[in-house]
Amino acid sequence: MTTKKIIAISGSHRDSNTDAILRQVAKGCENEGAQVKLIFLRELKFQQCCGWSDCYYQNYCIVQDNLSPIFNEFDNANGVILATPVYFDNVSGIMKNFMDRSNPYCKPPRYLGKKVALVCVGGASEKSIVKCDEALRSFSFHHRLDIFGTYSAVADYEKEILQKNKSLEEAVEFGKKFASYLK
Ligand SMILES: Cc1cc2nc3c(=O)[nH]c(=O)nc-3n(C[C@H](O)[C@H](O)[C@H](O)COP(=O)(O)O)c2cc1C
Repeated sequence: MTTKKIIAISGSHRDSNTDAILRQVAKGCENEGAQVKLIFLRELKFQQCCGWSDCYYQNYCIVQDNLSPIFNEFDNANGVILATPVYFDNVSGIMKNFMDRSNPYCKPPRYLGKKVALVCVGGASEKSIVKCDEALRSFSFHHRLDIFGTYSAVADYEKEILQKNKSLEEAVEFGKKFASYLK
């Protein structure tokens, strides 16, 4: 049996709640024998989309930087995890920049049918989390990804999630189920 490869992307601007949940999801995937590569977008130092929207038709990004190889790595991954904190009912700024940079790969859908698991961590409002999830789902739809599901958690102040054992345990279970879904 070949090892399943998963790329897990964090759109958090700090090492806190989202990353803690993402690490738990990754742990669950690894417990099922998958190999997980964690990518923290804030560490990549990449440019935002330059607005050259012809990229959509030419399937090419004129911005070449640290983010470019990540899009190539998706080709060989069996699954992808997208994790973001909720910012103003939406994904974080760096997650949005990442999404915008993926525009050249929408049509034809380069990642057609690739399995994706979504993670949203918000401060308080369930409504906000639902809207953030919708943004992640919309992105996944544009890329014609196969959405496994969403794990969402509530935590606001720094590392608050570490006091929420139930959320941490549930995130591991979510990861296990996602890895099984890849088989
Ligand atoms: C700019 C900004 C906007 C935010 N907007 C929301 C929001 O609309 N709804 C919400 O529930 N939490 C909101 N929050 C709270 C974060 O989602 C929360 O603190 C979360 O735990 C952050 O994840 P992190 O620890 O990975 O940074 C916002 C936080 C920031 C910094």
